[in-house]
Amino acid sequence: MLTTRTTLTRFLIEERRRHPNSSGEFNSLILDVAVACKVISRQVSLGALAGVIGKVGETNVQGEQQQKLDVIANDAFIRASEWGGAVAGMVSEELDEPYTLPEPYPKGRYLLLFDPLDGSSNIDVNVAVGSVFSILKAPHPGQDATAADFLQKGVEQVAAGYAIYGPATALVLTVGRGVHEFTLDQTVGEFFLTRQFLTVPAQASEFAINHSNRRFWSPAVRRYVDECLQGSAGPRGKDYNIRWVASMVAEVHRILTRGGVFLYPRDSKDPSRPGRLRLLYEANPVGFIIEQAGGRASTGLTPVLEHQPTAIHERIGFVFGAKDEVELIEAYHRESYPDTDESLDIPLYAHRGLFRSGD
Ligand code: AHG
Ligand code: MN
Ligand code: MN
Repeated sequence: MLTTRTTLTRFLIEERRRHPNSSGEFNSLILDVAVACKVISRQVSLGALAGVIGKVGETNVQGEQQQKLDVIANDAFIRASEWGGAVAGMVSEELDEPYTLPEPYPKGRYLLLFDPLDGSSNIDVNVAVGSVFSILKAPHPGQDATAADFLQKGVEQVAAGYAIYGPATALVLTVGRGVHEFTLDQTVGEFFLTRQFLTVPAQASEFAINHSNRRFWSPAVRRYVDECLQGSAGPRGKDYNIRWVASMVAEVHRILTRGGVFLYPRDSKDPSRPGRLRLLYEANPVGFIIEQAGGRASTGLTPVLEHQPTAIHERIGFVFGAKDEVELIEAYHRESYPDTDESLDIPLYAHRGLFRSGD
């Protein structure tokens, strides 16, 4: 019986009772985000029937071709969250500059940062996509947020979550007390609690990396992957399995379900890009979730949540999942490798230049 299940609303109200001075704005913001996710879920599930498949012919600030669903999902997040008085501004993957609330709407105490549609390249092949969001406190409540207001370390997040639009739509959330999964009943139109206090086992035997980038990897990443591929005959002493969905949310969901490790490391493919994934609305929210689940989230060398952002669309190397595996990858990055690595003729990697702490 669904009535015996905990709804997202009930979960949030019961969490709020732990904080007697809270205003309820925070809960209303999360519920507004959940509405956006339901709208996006509906559009994704209708696919070609809703005319939402395909490109719009514009390039976003990331230099990527926008898909129709990128735009629809971005609008859904903004429309659902701008009116309620909880946010002072928003940052989206799809917008060059922070979104300023239009005049009639009061500015609130929180900042909302989001990747409205993650895994865009999977839309037209009907593979799971998702949305990712992060909530920070606004340094200047009641005023329009500036770009600088969003440049807070991941450890400052008060909530983070993602929705995955797969065979089922699920919302996975942390408000700083564990990670919880809510599954959408499409008919009732409600998210119901389906798993609580998700954990990531410290060990793993499954890893995710886009292997086509191999020639651009650092020696440390090559070493880690090579050792996994050697399986039970190699130094790791066991066989590893590979998965690559190309939707980060789907990789996070798998790792929260059956463990594993994910790498999208900084590489030399485009030296002007210090990684593929974006810090503020991809790596930080996923990092918060993974750490709340007992896993580890890293730039490859140091905890991602401790990284000081310098730009709202900053990219970063990102490795997360099983704690022991991530620590091993960090340890490999701390070692030096000979300049003369015959298979990696990339000056960028001489000594440890690419991954020096503080770079
Ligand atoms: P987005 O669709 O928001 O731009 O993000 C796509 C990201 C992420 O979901 C995934 O892990 C990665 O890009 C896929 O990268 P490849 O194209 O290298 O597989
Ligand atoms: Mn993304
Ligand atoms: Mn996106």
